[in-house]
Amino acid sequence: MNYPPEPFRIKVTEPIRLISPAEREAALKTAGYNLFALKAEDIFIDLLTDSGTGAMSQDQWAAIMRGDESYAGARSYHRLKAAVEDIFGFKYFVPTHQGRAAENILAACLVKPGMYVPSNMHFDTTDANIRARGGRPANLVIDEAFDVANPHPFKGNMDIAKLRAFIEKTGVDKIPFGMITVTNNAGGGQPVSMANLKAVAAVYREYGIPFFIDSARYAENAYFIKVREPGYEHKSVIEIAREMYALADGMTMSAKKDAIVNIGGLLCMNDESLFQQVKNELILREGFPTYGGLAGRDLDAMAVGLYEGLDETYLAYRLAQTAYLAGRLNEIGVPTIQPAGGHAVYLDAHAVLPHIPQAEFPGQALAVELYREGAIRGVEIGSVMFAYPDPDSGQMIYPKLELLRLAIPRRTYTQTHMDYVADALARIQQRAPSIRGYKFTYAPELLRHFTARFEPL
Ligand code: F0G
Repeated sequence: MNYPPEPFRIKVTEPIRLISPAEREAALKTAGYNLFALKAEDIFIDLLTDSGTGAMSQDQWAAIMRGDESYAGARSYHRLKAAVEDIFGFKYFVPTHQGRAAENILAACLVKPGMYVPSNMHFDTTDANIRARGGRPANLVIDEAFDVANPHPFKGNMDIAKLRAFIEKTGVDKIPFGMITVTNNAGGGQPVSMANLKAVAAVYREYGIPFFIDSARYAENAYFIKVREPGYEHKSVIEIAREMYALADGMTMSAKKDAIVNIGGLLCMNDESLFQQVKNELILREGFPTYGGLAGRDLDAMAVGLYEGLDETYLAYRLAQTAYLAGRLNEIGVPTIQPAGGHAVYLDAHAVLPHIPQAEFPGQALAVELYREGAIRGVEIGSVMFAYPDPDSGQMIYPKLELLRLAIPRRTYTQTHMDYVADALARIQQRAPSIRGYKFTYAPELLRHFTARFEPL
């Protein structure tokens, strides 16, 4: 398997420590078997998320020193504005402190009770922000997305027939805006093709529905288009990104991913009256429109990081690192969503632990086991995160996949760290039949994976 040399060398280090198995067991108990409740110092390899956990570059740290902390109209804002306009090309934008703040503001402005927002798949915070306004998110990704072994190159694609049928059934007046998530995090970090983006944009345009792209991992998506979609091999990633955004009316973005910053987000749009509403909401909840809840230095780090995230040498290494980990796991017989996603490897927890039913959380069981085995932290993306009672019938609806996501922070871990993870999973694989499920001892109504507590069965 090809592991390309990292296109950087290490200038600053951060120590990590491996605590003993007995200490891990005690830490799990205290945390209520929820890995979000662990102390970070008790984790050796932290693959909980690729969000805000990347290593900033020397240029980003240098930009931080140039941060202008003026309350309004800071130089930092104007540097960010120039980058946002150059890459995305929308008429208006506001910075936000992270992606969900952009989602909250958009939902606050546009979603009314009983409305629906379609997407390929909404991520949990988008889903919850729509529900929190009385709306209902709808996931209309192609069926191939739920077939773990299917090697379709663009498993994040929207099912255009499903989208059309959904709009016809729901009625345009009940759809304040439509979305698509690039890459599709909830469905394996899988990309959306340019052809599909064009088709989605055409349908939304035909019905007069504003089109917003959830852009957390847009650069990884653009690179997948370059290497997988005929006709794009000679275009630069930034050109591909511009072509993607020319199709949309706006976007939400968590800059903590592909802009490689520890905090930050964006909300962009072309509609002037929406921009007015957005600014009012922003001032109420986040801050003045030229800083949006961030420090000036954060805006500068984002302005630099937006370009670094588009660097093709970096993207080639990034995607190869993810594919390497997936390949090593497949070698030892652990199935993962095929092909490997951009930012993470998604293990099929149901296949590793077929004896644990969905109601007993196989993804959570595998997550806990990986911590127990190697002090490695991943995140469940399955029934803990996505099972909801149907608002009409009250019946529990379970997600189609039970996954354990190992998200790889950007520019942070090396090949040896990836090998350590694969070796731990090989040992778990040996004793899989003896692993048991979990039950809730506490679970909030929305976004329950963050604060739920569990008991082993
Ligand atoms: N959209 C997508 C596709 C995401 O993956 C996330 C966050 C958000 C929006 C929200 O952004 O965290 O800045 O508020 N995903 C993180 C993850 C948390 O681990 O996948 P945020």
